[in-house]
Amino acid sequence: MPVERDPAADLRSKFKQVVIDIEIKAVTPRAIHVALAIDRIDCDRARMGQLLSNLLSNAVTHGSPDLPVRVEARVLDAIFQLTVSNASAPIPAAVLRGLFQPFSRGKDCKGSGIGLGLYIASEIARAHGGHLTAEMQAGKVVFTMTMPAAAPAEEQRRIARSAAPKV
Ligand SMILES: Nc1ncnc2c1ncn2[C@@H]1O[C@H](COP(=O)(O)OP(=O)(O)OP(=O)(O)O)[C@@H](O)[C@H]1O
Ligand SMILES: [Mg+2]
Repeated sequence: MPVERDPAADLRSKFKQVVIDIEIKAVTPRAIHVALAIDRIDCDRARMGQLLSNLLSNAVTHGSPDLPVRVEARVLDAIFQLTVSNASAPIPAAVLRGLFQPFSRGKDCKGSGIGLGLYIASEIARAHGGHLTAEMQAGKVVFTMTMPAAAPAEEQRRIARSAAPKV
């Protein structure tokens, strides 16, 4: 999947917009707690918005309403990290891993999706040099996307070259 990285993409505002969109579209209102300790991130802003949108719509559609959905983003040791979590019936580890395959849907799952949301989200993570994982933690399913907070050195050089004044 091609991505167009912007070294100074305003990801914070994009994520805020995605949360509002999902809140408006939710059939049953759901509390979404958001903590965004990020500002500008070297990424494809539109694709990253799509990634959060896919994770968050899953949380609202497939998660149980017992606990609020949580969205957290931060940069730790030069690694960007986004987590989206919600209360869920237990999902075995092998099933969790398989959810990233195209057209995979859990049994008894709700909604009218076709099983592409997590596949697309994981491809967006990979295209940024990162990855997307899922694990169960104390009755919650936690999706974590991680990637280097800065583009690889070669990409940095390309950006510097294209920004340099022509002489
Ligand atoms: N946050 C979640 N909580 C509980 N189960 C989830 C969650 N996210 C995904 N799942 C399970 O993983 C399956 C695959 O998710 P995915 O987003 O790929 O497909 P979908 O939501 O069923 O359809 P689509 O995203 O194409 O509309 C879901 O059908 C559901 O069973
Ligand atoms: Mg989905």
